[in-house]
Amino acid sequence: MSNNKFETKAIRTQLEHSQFQEHSTPLYLTSSFVFEDAEEMRASFTEEKERNIYSRFSNPNTSEFVEKVVQMEGAENGYAFATGMAAVFSTFAALLNSGDHIVSARSVFGSTHSLFTKYFPKWKITTSYFDIHKPEEIESYIQPNTKILYAESPTNPGVDIVDLELLGNIAKKHNLLLVIDNCFATPYIQQPIKFGADLVIHSATKLMDGQGRVLGGVVVGKTELIREIYLFSRNTGPALSPFNAWVLSKSLETLAVRVDKHCENALNLATFLESHNQVSKVKYPFLKSHPQFKIAKKQMKLGGNIIAIELKGGLEAGKKFLNTIKMCSLSANLGDTRTIVTHPASTTHSKLSSDEQLAAGITPGLVRISVGLEHAVDIVEDINQALTK
Ligand SMILES: Cc1ncc(COP(=O)(O)O)c(C=O)c1O
Repeated sequence: MSNNKFETKAIRTQLEHSQFQEHSTPLYLTSSFVFEDAEEMRASFTEEKERNIYSRFSNPNTSEFVEKVVQMEGAENGYAFATGMAAVFSTFAALLNSGDHIVSARSVFGSTHSLFTKYFPKWKITTSYFDIHKPEEIESYIQPNTKILYAESPTNPGVDIVDLELLGNIAKKHNLLLVIDNCFATPYIQQPIKFGADLVIHSATKLMDGQGRVLGGVVVGKTELIREIYLFSRNTGPALSPFNAWVLSKSLETLAVRVDKHCENALNLATFLESHNQVSKVKYPFLKSHPQFKIAKKQMKLGGNIIAIELKGGLEAGKKFLNTIKMCSLSANLGDTRTIVTHPASTTHSKLSSDEQLAAGITPGLVRISVGLEHAVDIVEDINQALTK
């Protein structure tokens, strides 16, 4: 399997057939598994025998889903979670001790930011933030107790690009764990492990499901780190449900074709918006005008499906835009077949102060567009009428 191409791995990584010889993997909707006798049960619990015991620990459907992501990211091992945030929280909670320190990009997803600022300080875990536009400053935030270097790329919602190779080199030099949230890119577009990441996290809720149906999360990377995360999760219980794992594993079979089309539609819309007279700024990684265009080209196969635009007229223009949209959805999700428009300042990042919002690159007129799979012409038409009306 390891020599096969991405699309083939996504489709042909599959559980062994059951006695029914089904073509498509069945759903193993079971909370536990049975044993032949006391000896088999004992050996399973001591891990002398590798097998499923209880679906909080593992389940055939979650194993298939995880194995696909492991193959796609070029990782050694992985564990799946009920949500992306469960994956983010459990990764930190499993690997950090009281007194440890994180160096993170300032622009990270709102709930991840809340973990760093509101919850981790309760356990004396502190965080310093670097500005992704000043990568030369990153090393100055590293302390003797720094354990994890953390970033998303592209970022949510500003669609900025972080140089993964640079982070990989810094992590190696200072003996830090590099953890990358690769949710916006998906493993089809970018594989952070190639640049030195130790762990890669996904909210599978986004492009991995891609159809706005189920929540899920996954972390993949080095076996010894995944082992810690697994032991933590086996006891604390953030496991992905077998049903959602089954849905997600099926979705991964079409990830490449879906993401190709998402990116084609997004580049088309971004190019159109660049010359729109109601838009003061368009940020899309594969537009030459993107500040980190060269880095995006170096580490990404395609530009992704998220566009950030700045409306002339700020907050009021943003509200009017959302109220005038006809086809696109006003929704908190992203990476769906349906194009979604959001206004981060009043939604996902509303819990941050206005100074914190600005520091994270969220201006009052910032609108995030998650470009879907509707016909490119219809997407452009709806966005255009909302901008011009
Ligand atoms: C970059 C990023 N990481 C993590 C998450 C959290 O994922 P979930 O909503 O599945 O918990 C999100 C959700 O939007 C996200 O955009």
